[in-house]
Amino acid sequence: ASTSTLQCRAQATITAEPSTSAKIDWDSLGFGITHHAPVMYEAQYVPGMGWQGNLRPYGNIEISPAAQVLNYGQSVFEGMKAQRSAKGRVVLFRPEENAARLQAGAGRLLMPEVPAETFALACMAVVAASRDYVPPMGKGSFYLRPLLLGTGPILGLGPAPSYTFLVFGAAVGSYFKTGKGSTVDLIVEEHFHRAAPGGMGGTKAAGNYSPVLLTQSAAKEKGYADVVYLDAKTDTLLEEVSSCNIFLVKGRHLKTPSLTGTILPGVTRKSIIELARAKGYTVEETDCPVTEAMEADEIFTVGTAVVLQAVGSLTYKGQRKQYTQGGKPGPVAAELYEDLTAIQQERAPDKFGWVREV
Ligand code: COI
Repeated sequence: ASTSTLQCRAQATITAEPSTSAKIDWDSLGFGITHHAPVMYEAQYVPGMGWQGNLRPYGNIEISPAAQVLNYGQSVFEGMKAQRSAKGRVVLFRPEENAARLQAGAGRLLMPEVPAETFALACMAVVAASRDYVPPMGKGSFYLRPLLLGTGPILGLGPAPSYTFLVFGAAVGSYFKTGKGSTVDLIVEEHFHRAAPGGMGGTKAAGNYSPVLLTQSAAKEKGYADVVYLDAKTDTLLEEVSSCNIFLVKGRHLKTPSLTGTILPGVTRKSIIELARAKGYTVEETDCPVTEAMEADEIFTVGTAVVLQAVGSLTYKGQRKQYTQGGKPGPVAAELYEDLTAIQQERAPDKFGWVREV
C-alpha cells in the first residue's frame, strides 16, 4: 500500500491556485454536490480477500435491491475537508481522526474496518486527482465524503455478506445559507430526540441523520436554521444540533456535552477543546443544561461542514435568547473561528501537528 501512496502523491502536481478547467464560480459556492469532482474511489470487500479498490469516474454504483444498506441501513460515513493553504499546497485536517472514527463506527455496525492506510490512500488519491476542485484559499474547501456501506444482498436481518467503501468529493462553501461570518437562529426541539442512552448517537451512522429531517424542516418553516436536541433521559440537557456539536460560553469558560455515547465525537469539537485550552480558556466536557444555555454569553456550533458557526439566538419553550445583534458572531466564536481556520489554511503555525499535505 505504501508504494501506491507514493504513486498517488507523485501524480499530484498541486498548484497554488486551481486551474480554470473546473469552471467554478468560487464566489458563489454553497454546500452541495453540484461541483463534484470527476473521480471517486471505490473499493470492494470480499470476505477472505480483504479490500480491493481504485480511482474511477464519479458516477452511480450498481447494487442489488436486496443490499443490506438499502433495506436495513448498514452504513457509516465521514466528512473531511481539503483546503489550499498559505504555503501554496493542498492540505487535509487531522484525517487520521476520521479514519479512526470510521473504524469505530464499523465496529458498532458489525462491518469490516477500512485500514487507516487504505483510508488515507483513498482520500489522498481523490484529492490529488481533483486539484481543480479545491477552491482558492478562503473561498471554500473540497469536501470529502468517505462512505462504508453494507452492499451485499441479504433478506433476513443480519450483516451484509460484502461491503463497499467509497470516497467522493465536491467543492463547497458555507454550510448554512447565512454564510461565513454570520450567525444562525436555532430552536430547541421539544418533541423528538436525536439519540438515546445505549443507542447509536455516538456513531457517524447514516441512520442518525435521516430522523432529523422532519424536525429540521419544521424548524426551517418557522425561520430557524436548525434545531438543538435535548437528552432523551431528562429532557433538560443540550446534546447537539442535527449536523454539528455545540459549545456554551460564559466569560473565559466553555462547556460542551461530554461524550457519553449519545454525542457525535466531532473532530472539530476535539480541536476546539484543545485550541481553546491552549489559549487559556477553561473547557469542561460536562452536562449543559438548556437553562444555562439561555443565560450564556455566547453559543456556537462546530463540525467539519459548518466549521465554527456562531449562534445569534436560541428559542426554548417560546422564549428567545438573543446572544448577538445584527448577525455578527460574538467575540469568542470569532476568535476561535479565526484560530482554527488559520491553522487549517496554514496562515498560522501548525503547533498541534494537525495538518497533512496531500
Ligand atoms: C460534517 O460536518 O462533515 C458532517 O458529516 C455533517 C453532515 C450533516 C454534513
